[in-house]
Amino acid sequence: MKKVLVTGATGQIGSELTLLLRENLGSTSVIAAGHIKKPDPALRESGPFHYIDCTQINTIAELVKKYKVDTIYHLASVLSASAEKNPQLGWQVNVNGLYNVLEVAREYGCAVFTPSSIAIFGPSTPLQNTPQDTVQRPTTIYGVTKVAGELLCDYYFKRFGVDTRGVRYPGLISYKTPPGGGTTDYAVEIYFEAVKHKKYTCYLKTETCLDMMYMPDALKAAIEIMEADPGRLKHRNAFNVTAMSVAPETIAAEIKKLIPDFTIAYQIDPLRQAIADSWPDSMDDSASRQEWGWKPKYDLQMTTRDMIQNISKILEDPS
Ligand code: SER
Repeated sequence: MKKVLVTGATGQIGSELTLLLRENLGSTSVIAAGHIKKPDPALRESGPFHYIDCTQINTIAELVKKYKVDTIYHLASVLSASAEKNPQLGWQVNVNGLYNVLEVAREYGCAVFTPSSIAIFGPSTPLQNTPQDTVQRPTTIYGVTKVAGELLCDYYFKRFGVDTRGVRYPGLISYKTPPGGGTTDYAVEIYFEAVKHKKYTCYLKTETCLDMMYMPDALKAAIEIMEADPGRLKHRNAFNVTAMSVAPETIAAEIKKLIPDFTIAYQIDPLRQAIADSWPDSMDDSASRQEWGWKPKYDLQMTTRDMIQNISKILEDPS
């Protein structure tokens, strides 16, 4: 029977991935681990939950030993804008935390999924249709930590045979758990503000294009890559994946189709604008499609419909 540990289980991806894995594998087979944030009732009541600190290796090792874990989804991370405000913490959590997880995986024979990000690219990367294999010279500490992470995961596979895998996520759109401290967070906030107040003030410029993906596709990617035939994987830890390339004006126009009196205004945050400008406008994810059959389900229209429907439901009945 599979035994899975999810770190960062209270975060934007973790809170949903844990529940989906519990549905697929059985509730006691998936151990959720968070750091500071309290788990919501759905997470706490559906299976084991523990507090850990990924920068302390023994806290990870104890759980892996106790539950005989064979697969770790290592989602604990400090996102781009937060890491830029505290680069030391960004390095500590994103690099030392991952190193600890890989060391535990090496010792106990676990497979490891680690999300990388569009942030591993930088201004010297071709930003249109960004190739799978290209220049990686990020200018943010978050990007630096994620490049280090991709390389570290490749190394642990090559040197120690640890079954490491991962994808480069774009901005993730979801309604269950808010992201925190990311540059792409506007693409979540815009929907909540549209439903609540019919207006949104955006911190990125109207035409700033970035790749995005709806959460069900992000979860699908995480599960499918871990199930993929390893013989076919050439880019184990760093697969470009995307579902849409959109700008604030594109999302606003789509929202207006459903909420006609929605308006958007702009008040640019120089920190996050500079980060967004250094990231790709659109990524080429053909390697994922070829090597493990990646295919997203949700485009912007479907995402918008689903987001607005679900946020409206939550606001009507917050329980
Ligand atoms: N969504 C992330 C961020 O904005 C990118 O990986 O930091």
